Amino acid sequence: MGSPSKEEVLERYSRVFPRAARVTYAPIVGVKARNALVWDVEGRDYIDFLSDAAVQNVGHNNPRVVEAIKEQAERLIHFTFIYGFPLEPLLLAEKLAKIAPVENPKVSFGLTGSDANDGAIKFARAYTKRRAILSYLRSYYGSTYGAMSVTGLEFEVRSIVGELSDVHYIPYPNCYRCPFGKEPGSCHFECLDYLKSKFEGEVYADGVAALFAEPIQGDAGMIVPPKDYFKRLKRILDEHGILLVVDEVQSGLGRTGRWFAIEHFGVKPDVITLAKPLGGGLPISAIIGRGEILDSLPPLGHAFTLSGNPVASRAALAVIEEIEEKDLLRRAERLGKRAKKRLDRMKEEHELIGDVRGLGLMLGVDLVKDRETKERAYEEARKVVWRAYELGLIVAFLQGNVLRIQPPLTIEEELLDEGLDRLERAVGDVEEGRVPDEVLTKVQGW
Ligand SMILES: Cc1ncc(COP(=O)(O)O)c(C=O)c1O
Repeated sequence: MGSPSKEEVLERYSRVFPRAARVTYAPIVGVKARNALVWDVEGRDYIDFLSDAAVQNVGHNNPRVVEAIKEQAERLIHFTFIYGFPLEPLLLAEKLAKIAPVENPKVSFGLTGSDANDGAIKFARAYTKRRAILSYLRSYYGSTYGAMSVTGLEFEVRSIVGELSDVHYIPYPNCYRCPFGKEPGSCHFECLDYLKSKFEGEVYADGVAALFAEPIQGDAGMIVPPKDYFKRLKRILDEHGILLVVDEVQSGLGRTGRWFAIEHFGVKPDVITLAKPLGGGLPISAIIGRGEILDSLPPLGHAFTLSGNPVASRAALAVIEEIEEKDLLRRAERLGKRAKKRLDRMKEEHELIGDVRGLGLMLGVDLVKDRETKERAYEEARKVVWRAYELGLIVAFLQGNVLRIQPPLTIEEELLDEGLDRLERAVGDVEEGRVPDEVLTKVQGW
């Protein structure tokens, strides 16, 4: 059977898939992948600086993961966890309970990050017997009804389809574009004063079930809070019995050099949600929460026929084993520092780069039209992503202008350097006007 051409695939995609299901950056028809490299249908290879949207923390088609999947698929593909007692989800839940910074945890499995956040809303409301949820502006929690309703980034869809009620938003601590006009040296955590004033003027604090937080705001453009932020925040939440739910869907499983990004900030959340990298590419999510919280819903209060799937669970165990045995937490930290140093040097050379930030291998490069005004360079970001694609590098942007750099934790150092070389070439080409305006129609992104 011959492969269809790239053009044919793109055309057939547009006929059968609705636009709601996708957002594309570059027209790559991926047919094969290994670690940080992806091959397309034309035989071209690309360095994947996205880890497939922060999924392939241990690399595409990691041999340990492939072996675990094959072995498990031969033996038992599925035996529903709802009725029966398959071993693989048990081993995985016990392992997650060991590595997660949550007191006396229990674990609930699902299929994707969105359903984990939906579950966290249900558990938090059931446990506290309160309805209100606090969330952040520009946060992203997913696409199912609950996750969509606490997301602070995309309001168009819910204006059409409706949403959960009792959700309130606060600004995230963004030190590059501080919503209160402060600079890191002169700030007094005005963002937390804002939360307190919200409790005085808008939301009854003792009626709030939980605050949902990404420890690093991913889709908002890799925003890293100040070191002390979560400790101070947690004190306020504890005063009112409000749970802290931390979404580690993008930042979890070693991405930032710790198992969970919240560990950088010295607080223990009540609930953690996890998905993307967990199954090494197979669909599996987990809610890891204090036992009493996860015991607050009745039987089948949060259950899916295909959750706790043995093959996905085995793949997840292999992902965790790979991180442990290859010491990938330390590797992510080391490679992250190397990449950040190089990006900081690029910033000195290229006016287009306004800020470089992130932890471990979760990095953002904020492109601006003017370093003083920090006006977002939307068109330039699209051109950089397109030029990078032409040079064989997969990269994307968030918020329209922040380049997303999240290579696999296993990427070879030479390939990391080569990817950064290509990125710098792409930035230079855009600055020099070598990328024509017509590419703007080809890159969609968000
Ligand atoms: C922080 C965060 N939470 C939740 C989600 C939703 O996960 P999924 O797309 O697997 O449902 C995402 C996806 O991008 C995410 O980045």
